[in-house]
Amino acid sequence: MNYIWLDCDPGHDDATAILLAIHCSNIRLLGVSTVHGNTTAENTKINASRCLHAFAAPADIKVYGGAIKPLLRPTRHDPEIHGPDGLGGVEGLPSADSSLVRTRIDHRPAIEAIAGALRRTWNDSAGVKVTIVASGPLTNIALFVSVYPDLLDAIERIVFMGGGIGVGNRSAVAEFNILCDPEAAQIVLNAPVPKTMIPLNVTHKAIVTNSLHNKLINNSLTHEAQSELASSQLRHTLSTLISFFKESYKSTFGFLDGPPLHDALTIAYVARPELFTRLRGIHTTGETIAAFFDFFLDCVAKCDRVSPLNQKCTS
Ligand code: BDR
Ligand code: CA
Repeated sequence: MNYIWLDCDPGHDDATAILLAIHCSNIRLLGVSTVHGNTTAENTKINASRCLHAFAAPADIKVYGGAIKPLLRPTRHDPEIHGPDGLGGVEGLPSADSSLVRTRIDHRPAIEAIAGALRRTWNDSAGVKVTIVASGPLTNIALFVSVYPDLLDAIERIVFMGGGIGVGNRSAVAEFNILCDPEAAQIVLNAPVPKTMIPLNVTHKAIVTNSLHNKLINNSLTHEAQSELASSQLRHTLSTLISFFKESYKSTFGFLDGPPLHDALTIAYVARPELFTRLRGIHTTGETIAAFFDFFLDCVAKCDRVSPLNQKCTS
């Protein structure tokens, strides 16, 4: 079993990472912290809570708000890609002011909650370590490793989506998460714990093509959809998420085939690391991405059985 803590800035692809973290059978999600990034820290906190509810996370998994700004630089958000509230165009999630959303939020600061989860896991399970997964700017994680150096031994690995080798999305070489808070990224990279970076070079291969979008809508791994009507409200919600993200990627970056599911790959790496080893072989890339989407669709199917949005979609 992989014990993980997820630090994120939802964000369309962060939302898919949340779904995988809840429904992947060899992952035990301990908690979710949020950070400034795709939108304001207040919005990312609320969005994470909306996703936890819609994706049927156990009630004891809470959201903890973290840094509202980068360590040194002015805050930057990305409404062009994620809409004004971070989950633009996504239908069917509970509203921000619903009590379901509010009661999921714990007001302890993010780094204190991460420290508590690491200590508890270490003590209760005789030295079991926790993987920290980060899918937004690295401010919270930089603060955590700086404030709690005594807990570094309790970290299995830090897996983060960010960066690109010779490729960027906010300049020719800069990737959004790292660009938001490069000083925080430097602190995390210097921390003496194992780290895995999931860069744009990898995530730009995980494109949700029309054919995959149709499989998502219709719960079918083998047949293309005949209509655009989703088979459940959950799938309709995910379909609206993909559609919005697709339009953003088309208009901003000229991606014509579909949007990349960047952040979902962090969870896939923890759950199925062998996929990423094989990604090194040029000829196995297609196979790997197909296996990633099978994994993704399998988790969606598990979510569909228990989600409050599992009613049949009628319109
Ligand atoms: C990263 O930036 C955000 O737009 C996404 O959520 C992802 O974490 C991709 O550069
Ligand atoms: Ca993100």
